[in-house]
Amino acid sequence: MTVTIVGSQLGDEGKGALVDLWGGEADVVVRYQGGDNAGHTVVEGGEEYALSLVPSGAVRGKVGVLGNGCVVNPRTLFDELDELRGKGLDPDVRVARRAHVILPYHRRLDGIEEEAKADSGVKVGTTGRGIGPTYEDKAGRRGVRIGDLLDPEVLRERLEYAVPQKRALIEDVYGLEAGEECDVEALHEEFAAVGERLREEGMTVDCGDFLHERREAGKNLMFEGAQGTSIDVDHGNYPYVTSSNPTAGAAAVGSGVGPTVTGRGEVVGVVKAYLSRVGEGPLPTELEGPDEELADFIREKGGEFGTVTGRPRRIGWLDVPMLRHASRANGFTGIAVNHVDVLAGLDEVHVGHAYDLDGETIETVPSTTEEWARCEPILREFEPWPEVDWADVAETGYEAIPDAAREYLGYAEEQVEAPVYAVGVGPDRAETVVRANPWE
Ligand code: GDP
Ligand code: IMO
Ligand code: MG
Repeated sequence: MTVTIVGSQLGDEGKGALVDLWGGEADVVVRYQGGDNAGHTVVEGGEEYALSLVPSGAVRGKVGVLGNGCVVNPRTLFDELDELRGKGLDPDVRVARRAHVILPYHRRLDGIEEEAKADSGVKVGTTGRGIGPTYEDKAGRRGVRIGDLLDPEVLRERLEYAVPQKRALIEDVYGLEAGEECDVEALHEEFAAVGERLREEGMTVDCGDFLHERREAGKNLMFEGAQGTSIDVDHGNYPYVTSSNPTAGAAAVGSGVGPTVTGRGEVVGVVKAYLSRVGEGPLPTELEGPDEELADFIREKGGEFGTVTGRPRRIGWLDVPMLRHASRANGFTGIAVNHVDVLAGLDEVHVGHAYDLDGETIETVPSTTEEWARCEPILREFEPWPEVDWADVAETGYEAIPDAAREYLGYAEEQVEAPVYAVGVGPDRAETVVRANPWE
C-alpha cells in the first residue's frame, strides 16, 4: 500500500512531522521531487532533526529513497548523512540513477538570476540552492544525472558540453566573471569522486525497479512531498513557484511506480492552520499593516523562520480557496491540520472563506497570479479557542480538542471534502492527535 503526503499550501505545513508519525508503518520513504530547498523537521522526544534531502523516515530507521524526480546536491546529501550518523542514527538512503545532479554552476546561476530580477518585481525569493537552473537543464536535455557520475567518461562528456554554455551565460549575458564553478577539470574531479562514493556505499538504484521489488514483497511505501501545492510549477502562483511538481500526481512520475499504484493508496494533504510564506508573491489573507503585531505574535509562537534559510516567514489567515484548489489538484483522501496550538489563546480567529475578485465572489484560486493578487479575502470569523495542555489533549484524543477548535477543523474538512486524519498540537511526534490511520 502507499500513502502520499503533500503540502496543501506554500510549504512548511509540517509535512516532516506527519511523515515521521505515519512513517512508523512504512518500509520505504520516497522523496519524488525537489531537492535541498526543502527543510523538514522531525521532533522526537525533544530531539529535533532538520532534514533537507534525507527523507524524514530516516529518523525511524526506514529506507529513504531520493526518486528520479528529485534534484540532488551531493554535498548536502553527504553532509546530512554525516550529521545524522554523528547523532547516532544509521540512515539507509538510496538515490535514483535517473535523478539530476545540482552542480555548483546551478547554485551560482540561481543567485545571478535572482539578482537580475531584483529590480523588476519578478524576483522569486528562491532558497538559492540551484533548484530552478537544475530543472531547466533537465528539461533542456543538458543535465547531469546521478548515473552519469558513475562513469567518468560519460561525466566528462556531459560537462564538456554543458560548462562552456554556463560560462558564456555568466560572462556574455550577465557580464560577470565565471569562477571555479565553470572549471571542467575541477568539476570532474569532485563529481567523479562523488560517483565513486555512491558506488562504494551501494547507494544508487533504479528507483522504479527498487520500489517494484519492495511492493512485490508486500512492503508499504510512503511518498514524502516537499514544498506545497501553491508553489507547484503548474498549479501554484507562477512565477512565484518552485520548479517542480509537489502535487500528488508527481509521486508516480518522480519515482517510477505508475499512477495506478499511488492512486489506489491514500493522499493526505498537510494543512497549516494559518498561512506562512517564505518567498515573494501575493498572499491575499496576509496579516500586515494594522495586523502586523498579530503576525509577529504568530511568527514567534509558531517559530516561523525558514528551516533552510532562516528568513522570517510571512503570515496570513487560513486561505480556504487555496485549500479547495489543493484538494482538487491532489485528490486528497484525508487531511492533517497542524499548528492548531499556535492559534490558541488569540482574541480573534479568521479564515479567508472566499475572494472578491473585481466585485465577483469566487471560491477557488484564479489561474493567473495577477488576478490572484487583486483578490480581496472575504473573511469568516471563528470563535477563538483557549490555551490548554496540548500534550494531554494529544494523549486523550480528538474529543479533548477545545470545542471552538473542533468547529474550525470541521469547517476545514467540509470545505476540502476530505476528513481530518490528524491534528498537530505541537512539534513533537507525541503532540499529534491521531484520528485515523491512513494505512488501515
Ligand atoms: P515541512 O517543510 O512541511 O516539513 O515543515 P517545516 O519542518 O519546515 O516547518 C514546520 C515547523 O513547525 C517545524 O518547526 C515543526 O517542528 C513545527 N510543527 C509541526 N507541526 C506542528 C504543530 O502542530 N504545532 C507546532 N507548534 N509546531 C509544529
Ligand atoms: P518544504 O519542503 C517553503 C519557496 C522559496 C521560493 C520558491 C522557489 O520545507 O515545505 P526554490 O529554491 O525552490 O527555487 O524557491 O519556493 N520554497 C519553499 N517554501 N517550504 C519549502 O519546502 C520551499 N521550497 C521552496 O522560498 O519562494
Ligand atoms: Mg520546511
